[in-house]
Amino acid sequence: PNLEPIPQPPKAPLVGNLGDVDVKFPLDSMVTLANKYGPIFKLSLPGLDLVVVSDWDLVHEVCDDSRFRKSIKGELEELRAAVNDGLVTSSGDDEENWGVAHRVLMSAFGPLSIRNMFDEMHEIASQLALKWARQGPHEPLDVSGDMTRLALDTVALCSMGFRFNSYYRQDLHPFIKAMNEVLDAAAHRTNRFMPSVFYYSANHKFKENIKLLRSAAREVVDSRRLVADDAGAERKDLLNAMLVGVDHKTGRKMSDESIIDNLITFLVAGHETTAGTLSFVLYNVVKYPEVCRKAQREVDDVVGTGAVTLDHVSKLKYITALIRETMRLNAPITAFAREAVCDQIIGGKYLVKKDTQVVCFLTRSQSDPVIWGPDANEFKPERMLDANFDRMQKEYPHCWAPFGTGLRACIGRPFAWQEMVLALAVMLQNFNFVMHNPAYTLRLAQSLTIKPKDLYLRAISREGLS
Ligand code: HEM
Repeated sequence: PNLEPIPQPPKAPLVGNLGDVDVKFPLDSMVTLANKYGPIFKLSLPGLDLVVVSDWDLVHEVCDDSRFRKSIKGELEELRAAVNDGLVTSSGDDEENWGVAHRVLMSAFGPLSIRNMFDEMHEIASQLALKWARQGPHEPLDVSGDMTRLALDTVALCSMGFRFNSYYRQDLHPFIKAMNEVLDAAAHRTNRFMPSVFYYSANHKFKENIKLLRSAAREVVDSRRLVADDAGAERKDLLNAMLVGVDHKTGRKMSDESIIDNLITFLVAGHETTAGTLSFVLYNVVKYPEVCRKAQREVDDVVGTGAVTLDHVSKLKYITALIRETMRLNAPITAFAREAVCDQIIGGKYLVKKDTQVVCFLTRSQSDPVIWGPDANEFKPERMLDANFDRMQKEYPHCWAPFGTGLRACIGRPFAWQEMVLALAVMLQNFNFVMHNPAYTLRLAQSLTIKPKDLYLRAISREGLS
C-alpha cells in the first residue's frame, strides 16, 4: 500500500512534543491536538513515542488482540514500583503472575460472586444516604469527595473486609492519603526529563508511601490467614479467593506478594473510576431534569419506598442506560494504551512499528459522529437502552469501550456495575438534587482518571420516602 506519514506537531530539541501537552491537564491538549491533526497523530515525549487514534475504525483495529497488546509504558510502568505485576500493571498477557491471578480471580469477580457482595455494597450506600439526610437540604455536598468515599469504602469492604469508615472521619485515612500521593507521583514521574538524583526528596516520599501501602496490605493478609484457617469464619470475598484459589492451568497458588500487589490494585483501579462515573451521572441528573424525572419514576415503579434489593438491580433499565450514556461522553479513563506486536499498517496507510504505543482516545472515539450520528455529542440515555446498546456493540464493536478491551478489559466491571446501579437507586429514591451554585458549568479534574471539578450539589429529601 501507499504509506502516508502520521501527522506530528513540530518537535523541540530535547523535550520533543512535551510543550504540546499540558501535564496538569493532558485531556485538553489531546482534544486540541486531535482537532488540529485529525484522527491519528504522533507525539514524541521524553522516553516515549506514541500514536493517538480517535476514530472508531482506527480504535477498533487497534483493539485486535492478534495485532496489538496492552501497553504499560508511561504511568502504569511507574506504578509497578508499588504493585509490581498486579493485574493492571502487568505488561504482556504472558507475565506469569498475570495469568495465575487472572484465572484465580475470574470467578471471584463473576456475576455470581458479586451478587454475594450486595449487602455490603448496600450498607455503604446507606451510610451515604444517611449522611446526606443528616446534613439537610442547605449543606453543599462535595460530589466527587462523597463518591470517592463511597467507592473506596465499598471496594475495601467487599474485596477484603476492611473498613475505611470514610463517612465517619474528617481527614483521609493514612492509607488513602499514601495511595493518592503514589498515584500523583507516578503521573509526575513520567514527565521528568532530568536524572532521578534531581528528584531525591520526591523519590524518598514515593518509596515511604509505597512501604506504608504494602505493610498495611500485608497486615490485612496476615490477619486473614489466621481467621481463614479457622473454618467457618471464612468470608467469601476476593481476598479469600486469592488465598485459597489454585490456578487450574499451572497448579500454582498466588504468592503473598502477588496477593498484596492485587489488593492494592483493586483499591486503585476500583475507586476513582467508579467515583468519577457516579459524579458525572449526578451532574447529568441535575443538568437534565427530564432525565432525572424518568430515572426517579423508574426507581419508584421498580423499588417503591422499601429497600433496594438485588433483584431490583437488573430491572433498572433506564438507570443502566443513564450510566452507559454518561460513560460514553465522560469515560473516566479517557484512553487506554496498546502496542503493536509486530510492524502494523493501520487505516490502510499508516505504519506503526513493533512495540510503538498506540493510545485509544475514548473521549473522541466514543462520540464519533460516523457511528453515533450528528447528535453524537448530545446526552441521550435513550440510545443506550438494551436493544439499541446491544445492536451498536454488535455492529460497531468497541464503539463503547470505557472498560477497555479483550483479555485485558476490566475484571471489575460487574462489581462496578452493581455498585453504581445500587448507589444511584438509593440516591434517587431518597433525594432530589439541585446545583449549589446554579451558574456552575462543568469543569474537569484529571489524574489517572477524570472527574467533575468543584461540583457541589444540595440533596433535598423526597417527602414521604424512607
Ligand atoms: C482494568 C475501567 C472499576 C479492577 C480496567 C481497564 C479499564 C477499566 C479501562 C483497562 C485498562 C487498560 O487497558 O490499561 C474501569 C471503570 C470502572 C472500573 C470505568 C468503573 C466505572 C473497577 C473495579 C475494580 C477494577 C471496581 C476492582 C474492584 C480492574 C482490574 C483491571 C482493570 C484488576 C486490570 C485487568 C487486567 O488487565 O487483567 N478497568 N474499571 N475496575 N480494572 Fe477496572
